Amino acid sequence: MSETPAASPAAETDQQSTVRRGAAYDSVFLRAARREPVPYTPVWFMRQAGRSLPEYLKVREGIPMLDSCMRPELVKEITLQPVRRHDVDAAIFFSDIVVPLKAVGIDVDIKPGVGPVIADPIRTVEDLQRLRPLEPDDMPYITEAVGLLVDELGGTPLIGFAGAPFTLASYLVEGGPSKSHEKTKAMMYGAPELWAGLVDRLAAITSAFLKIQIEAGASAVQLFDSWVGALAPDDYRRSVMPASTKVFEAVADYGVPRIHFGVGTGELLGLMGQAGADVVGVDWRVPLNVAADRVGPDKGLQGNLDPAVLYAPTHVVETKAREVLHAAAALGDSGHIFNLGHGVMPTMDPDALTRLVAFVHEASAR
Ligand code: CP3
Repeated sequence: MSETPAASPAAETDQQSTVRRGAAYDSVFLRAARREPVPYTPVWFMRQAGRSLPEYLKVREGIPMLDSCMRPELVKEITLQPVRRHDVDAAIFFSDIVVPLKAVGIDVDIKPGVGPVIADPIRTVEDLQRLRPLEPDDMPYITEAVGLLVDELGGTPLIGFAGAPFTLASYLVEGGPSKSHEKTKAMMYGAPELWAGLVDRLAAITSAFLKIQIEAGASAVQLFDSWVGALAPDDYRRSVMPASTKVFEAVADYGVPRIHFGVGTGELLGLMGQAGADVVGVDWRVPLNVAADRVGPDKGLQGNLDPAVLYAPTHVVETKAREVLHAAAALGDSGHIFNLGHGVMPTMDPDALTRLVAFVHEASAR
């Protein structure tokens, strides 16, 4: 699928290592994530698979979101759609952060235009008992879908992902999407032991979900802590960071790059740099040269074009994308993965995304 050679000649002579490393090992995306030199800056988009694509809307017709995540052939098709269309440097597995919660028996649904809704929110010690560990046998459809994808993608890497403990806890405690996360924070401040038990169980579920994807062939993982920017640094460090660190440690031995992303995390970037990921995702509010100082040395950065820029004329998109590349020069020759500061929006023009990929490749060529 990608024009990137499957592996370097040296790796090909060592069959075992080729198998262990996977065909995508020398892809531009994985090289950048490991901070190795790259011929150009790799690019992919959060939420690249989904409602901005007419071909997505067509295959999803009449199939509820969470049902679609349990159909391997459909997951494969939806994951491949943006790779075919945009020539992005990585595929992101089509699933959702609440899929492992459903797999352990939580009654969760994704309501169109709303997001995840939990029938019986978790608010007490008794409720917490319902959150049992995730076993590999709970998700045969994930293993199957990742396997199908890795076969088809060849040299294009597949990014696995999961929701981070705080962001998952917010859905579970609030019962659905929330702007202020007040019930979640009330538990974090007012019932610290219950809170610690909750994020601990979620760290275990998330670690298991990532392991399932890596063992099936995903060659990088991203931990989405989308809503963690709602926290002050001290609260993040005390009440959330240890659980996220557990997740990064749980998958460290696989040697696949670990990406850590959240929105509105300007004040948390230093701590996120310490939490254990190899690459830190940055939203559009902090220029990448400033983010590099906050995150600290030896980390890659991912981001960070304001998604709304995509609604402006092409020459503006290109000027703003060039600014992102320019700020990323602070990292040196490698370690930058181009992305949006948050996800693709449903009303975005897919052609603008395709043009942006070509522009980033061209403008960053070394
Ligand atoms: O393309 C990709 O990025 C891969 C698939 C993916 C989805 N969700 C598919 C999806 C990924 C990585 C996610 C992660 C996710 N899910 C996050 C973290 C990323 C982020 O954007 O911050 C969060 C917070 C969720 C929870 C969730 N699921 C939300 C907020 C929504 C949108 C609700 C809405 O309709 O506005 C979903 C549903 C969802 N997940 C869709 C997709 C393609 C839309 C489903 C549809 O087609 O109706």
